[in-house]
Amino acid sequence: MMLWKNKNTVTGLSTGIHKHDKFNTWFLVTDASTYVVGATAEGYLVNLHWGARLEQLDNLNATLNTDFSSQDPAITMAKEELPIFGGLRYRENALKIELPDGTRELNLLYAGDANVTGNHLDLHLRDGNHTDLLVTLHYEVDAENDIIRRSYTVRNGLKKSINISKALTAAWHPPTTLGRDDKREIVTLSGEWNAETNVETTVLRPGVRHVVESTRGFTAHASFPYFALRSVADEISNGEQDVYFGTLAWSGGWEISAQMNPEGEVRIAGGIQHLDFGWTLEHGESFTTPVFAAGYTNEGMSGARKRLPRHTRKYQKKNVKTQQKDYNPVLYNSWEAVAFNVTAEKQLELVEKAAPLGVELFVIDDGWFGARDNDSAGLGDWYVNKDKFPNGVKPIADRAHALGMKFGIWFEPEGVNPNSDLYRAHPEWAFHYPGIPRYEARNELSLNLGIPEVRDYLYKRLHTIIKENDVDYIKWDMNRPFAEVSMLHDNGRNPREAYVHIVNGYYDLVDRLKKDFPDLWIESCSSGGGRMDMGIVERVDQVWTSDNTRPDGRLFIQYGASLFLPPRVMYGWVTESGNDDNVKIPLSFRFHTSFMGGLGIGSNLNDFKGTDMEETKNWIKLYKELRPVIQDGDLDWLVPPSRLSDLTAVTQATAQDRSEAVVLAFRHRSPFNRPIPKVRLRNLEAKQMYQVRIWLEDATKTEDTYEMSGALLMAQGISLPGLNSGMFRSALVHVKKA
Ligand code: GLA
Repeated sequence: MMLWKNKNTVTGLSTGIHKHDKFNTWFLVTDASTYVVGATAEGYLVNLHWGARLEQLDNLNATLNTDFSSQDPAITMAKEELPIFGGLRYRENALKIELPDGTRELNLLYAGDANVTGNHLDLHLRDGNHTDLLVTLHYEVDAENDIIRRSYTVRNGLKKSINISKALTAAWHPPTTLGRDDKREIVTLSGEWNAETNVETTVLRPGVRHVVESTRGFTAHASFPYFALRSVADEISNGEQDVYFGTLAWSGGWEISAQMNPEGEVRIAGGIQHLDFGWTLEHGESFTTPVFAAGYTNEGMSGARKRLPRHTRKYQKKNVKTQQKDYNPVLYNSWEAVAFNVTAEKQLELVEKAAPLGVELFVIDDGWFGARDNDSAGLGDWYVNKDKFPNGVKPIADRAHALGMKFGIWFEPEGVNPNSDLYRAHPEWAFHYPGIPRYEARNELSLNLGIPEVRDYLYKRLHTIIKENDVDYIKWDMNRPFAEVSMLHDNGRNPREAYVHIVNGYYDLVDRLKKDFPDLWIESCSSGGGRMDMGIVERVDQVWTSDNTRPDGRLFIQYGASLFLPPRVMYGWVTESGNDDNVKIPLSFRFHTSFMGGLGIGSNLNDFKGTDMEETKNWIKLYKELRPVIQDGDLDWLVPPSRLSDLTAVTQATAQDRSEAVVLAFRHRSPFNRPIPKVRLRNLEAKQMYQVRIWLEDATKTEDTYEMSGALLMAQGISLPGLNSGMFRSALVHVKKA
């Protein structure tokens, strides 16, 4: 086992993992940060450094402080990597295990062995009293994005079974230093259906535990598993800002908490929601937690916004074959236009209209199967509705293919309407408790994906529909929270395991379909953005960000979602939403909003008037031209959307090599008819000349074109007089190395 490469005296540690040659300390080095874990003499594993990159294997002295008082035991304040329930630990704990003899406290200590393989480090902990219980902490370094991925595995070597009642993935300890970080705020994301990912900031206070979570059995809208911790700027801030940020790769119920003591020391802990969670390990079995990824940057929120989406994109690209070659397609979906009213005839009409616009993927949404005329019936019956599609959906797929488009279709595999053939045949497949009403939401119940027969049924139906109809893409929806989550099918198991089985069952089905159909695209949707966490994004191609397609509302939602989503994954449709007798939001404003990520069209093409078709076609053409920067660049916000009366917002997507950028500027209204200040760009090459092109309402006509140096673009910026007056004004700017 090769544990270190550099001698302590050598300056300039390379990225990767190094062990100190004298001490049990491991240095996880990224491009701009270092994370150091060490074992104390007693065997406690503690964090010794997380922040700026270290240049050598410093002696960081892994010891516990002495107790501050008998009421403040040192172990409570120690920066333990995996604080367990037990002993004198009274801050948030991550792991609680019950042993056969009733013992609920463990003393997990570094067992003296570790493995380093490439960018992976495994540290083994054993319980001093029950040495057949092994916990292995896993670390993985993403050097270029300054991110550490953590998880752990519990292995039961005892002869009897043990119960895990809490298994959060990790505790993180951003350091504090006098004067610099003492007042700190946490950035989190709140929401609800139609209004996802609102950015919230809360100043941490000692004695108050701040928790964000989902108790609904899936990621959900109410909150998103994301945190960023930053210092509150004061008069001695030196311009840089340290930010610690992270997210969970988990599509089930989750929790993240932040606690700060009076000295400003923070513990962030998170993982699978522990309310009603449980897992029983028989002899020889193991349980591995989902990944909690977290990183450090001194480039403020803009640095955090760059790193996390890049990190997720890196793993998505590695895992998902369809993500390795093409850009994400421009899609058409008629859900907002015709809802359940999908018929062969109408869909064919739309196919004919969508193709000449430049659409690359035609999607039939809800309503094509079973007795599905509204949301009260048919869910679960994954057979084509012959009244609506007498010859099946294959002719639509064929026509879309003939016109050069991919063909996609909607599913909600986990849902079932009580009014369906599936439910009539298998009422026991839906989560329920005997004698208790089955709680419906949107007239549906949830299928228990923990039951192998349920997964087999769904797999077979989806597989058949995809294969028989040459389906290139599926939209995988999930429209209700879980309730009555049980394990009635397997009474021998711990009933609380069901929460994990529903997620693993979901992943299993998605992974199987991706394996069987390597070219199949999958979009994750859950009543809009209820399931767009890193766990699913690393498996699929794109997500539906929100059912809200009103462009002014979208600015807020995308501001939050772009903290964690790679731009190409974040889909936005152009629709008519928000238009009424008094308000008309121009098509240009709608397109510009959707130009931040993957582009979709959701308007009723049959209702297009005048030049709408032509205009749509022109914007799609321009989008395709700019798509490499939009989809592969870093999406930053130069001006966050504000709720002030004029609602201005500006984004900048920048190519990773800084050769070009796309700026989108929005102004909702201008009650005082005043010019907006110039828009100053970021992250360009100061010495480089850039060609600047500006479009307002017409995709075929640039309002202005000129050359400007990177230095001037960043120091002074671009004037946008087109936004001075009127309502719903917006501009698209492209700058490219001249
Ligand atoms: C959810 C989705 C929508 C649409 C409907 C269909 O609400 O978010 O995009 O697919 O279901 O019922």
